Amino acid sequence: MNIAIIGATGTIGKAIVSNMENRHTLFKAGKNQGDYQVDITSTDSLNRFFNDIGKVDAIISVAGDLHLGSIEDMSVDDFNVGLQSKLLGQVKVALTGQKYLHEGGSITLTSGIVSEQPIAGGSNPATVNAAIDAFVRGAAVDLPKVRINSVSPNVVIESLPNYGPFFPGFEAVPTKRVALAYQRSAEGPMTGYTFKVW
Ligand SMILES: NC(=O)c1ccc[n+]([C@@H]2O[C@H](COP(=O)([O-])OP(=O)(O)OC[C@H]3O[C@@H](n4cnc5c(N)ncnc54)[C@H](OP(=O)(O)O)[C@@H]3O)[C@@H](O)[C@H]2O)c1
Repeated sequence: MNIAIIGATGTIGKAIVSNMENRHTLFKAGKNQGDYQVDITSTDSLNRFFNDIGKVDAIISVAGDLHLGSIEDMSVDDFNVGLQSKLLGQVKVALTGQKYLHEGGSITLTSGIVSEQPIAGGSNPATVNAAIDAFVRGAAVDLPKVRINSVSPNVVIESLPNYGPFFPGFEAVPTKRVALAYQRSAEGPMTGYTFKVW
């Protein structure tokens, strides 16, 4: 398959690449790094990227910023970070990307465990991740010719130096295991489904 991976240069993206690169032709994109540069917050940038690479069989989005912090001192602009980047950015990937998919192709977006299991300072990720999972359930019924799923990772072991203090007692998972969920989404039959790697 030809597979576009947006966020391929990131912590989880690198593990997806390593799992898939021997079986598929990968178009590896990041915001600044990678073989292609694309900004998920810009529909123009996404159209340029998909025009460059041509039609694909699967699109994987593993990118998007969030705001971590207590609502006691959160501004609307703080909260908007996750809405504009991880939520609307990935919705833009789906809205734009569907036009560049072969019939039977798939879109996989990324959410996260905080949708259902709160952490301190996590109201923005809780909202955004739940919305991504709801979006794929809702969108799947309108997409008879392509599939759409999300992957919801626990905090990954490789990110513990940065995010560990936000996840006390969570059983962190290796990115290698998270990568299998993206494989199931792209290579398997599911649609409208959230693969929880918890
Ligand atoms: N890490 C975890 O423990 C964990 C757990 C659950 C969910 N998640 C979710 O998984 C996703 C990836 O996490 P990660 O830890 O792998 O992130 P990361 O290491 O920071 O990597 C982010 C990747 O996304 C790209 N990117 C950033 N902003 C972008 C934009 N506006 N447009 C296109 N690409 C962009 C980056 O490109 P450059 O390299 O060019 O900057 C990089 O490839 C995030 O949505 C995160 O919320 C992560």
